[in-house]
Amino acid sequence: MTQIRPLVAGNWKMNGLKCAASEVLAIRDRLSTAEFNPEADVLICPPVTLIATLSDLIADTSISLGGQDCHGEISGAHTGDISAEMLADAGASAVIVGHSERRTDHGERDKDIYLKTLAVHRAGLMAIICIGETEAERRAGQTLDVVKRQLHGSLPTSALVINTVIAYEPIWAIGTGLTPTVDDIAEVHGMIRQELAAIVDSASAEQMRLLYGGSVKLSNAAELMAIENVNGALVGGASLQAESFLGIIAAYISDQT
Ligand code: 13P
Repeated sequence: MTQIRPLVAGNWKMNGLKCAASEVLAIRDRLSTAEFNPEADVLICPPVTLIATLSDLIADTSISLGGQDCHGEISGAHTGDISAEMLADAGASAVIVGHSERRTDHGERDKDIYLKTLAVHRAGLMAIICIGETEAERRAGQTLDVVKRQLHGSLPTSALVINTVIAYEPIWAIGTGLTPTVDDIAEVHGMIRQELAAIVDSASAEQMRLLYGGSVKLSNAAELMAIENVNGALVGGASLQAESFLGIIAAYISDQT
C-alpha cells in the first residue's frame, strides 16, 4: 500500500487582515530552507479577502491555499456567498466544508455539505469535509454513531482520494485546549477508515487522508499525528502564528519525531 502523504491545514476562521501576510511569508521562508523539509503538504485557509493576495506570495512554493466554505452553485443571486469557482479563480485549491461553526452558525446540515462537496469537486478543488460530535453526544456514548451518520450524509460516492479529505473535529475539543485520548481518536479514525469502504472506491477508501482537528498545538502535535489513521491536522488557533504552525508542521520532519 502506498504511503499516505499527510496534510497539515490551517483554518484561520474569521481572523486575519492584510498584515497577516507576514505570517505566511514567514512560513514560506522557513519551508524553503533545506533543513525544514516536512513530509507533509501544507495548506492555509485564510479569510476569503486574503486569498488572491496570498496566492501571489506563495506562487511557486509548496504551500496551498483554501477557502473555508462555498455556495453550492456556480453563480447567481446569493448575496454574500462565494462559489467554489470564485475561490479557484482567486487561487485556492481546496475548500473546507461542513465545519461545525458553519453547521452551528448557519444551520448547515449533512445534505448541504454533500452539495457543497460536489460543488468543490465541480470546480476542480479538494474538499475538506468536517465531521464531529458535540460534548453531549460524546457523554451519551453516541460519538461513533454521530460521526458515521455525518460521514455517510456528507460524502458523495464519487469522492476520490485526490479531491477529498475528511477532518474529524470533536466540537468540544475546538478552541478549548481539550483533546480526546489517543485511544478515542484511534477508534473514531479507525471507524471512518472502515466506513469509507462502503462509500467510495476501494483505492480512495484506503488512501483518503483523515485529519484530526481540535486544540492541536505544538505540545501535542507529534503525539496526535502518530496515531494510526491520523494523516494530518486541521489547526485553528495555532495556525494563526507562523511559529506555532511551523512547530506543528515539524511533527512531520522525520529526524524530529
Ligand atoms: P482549534 O485548533 O483552535 O481548536 O480549532 C480547530 C478547528 O476548528 C479547525 O478547523
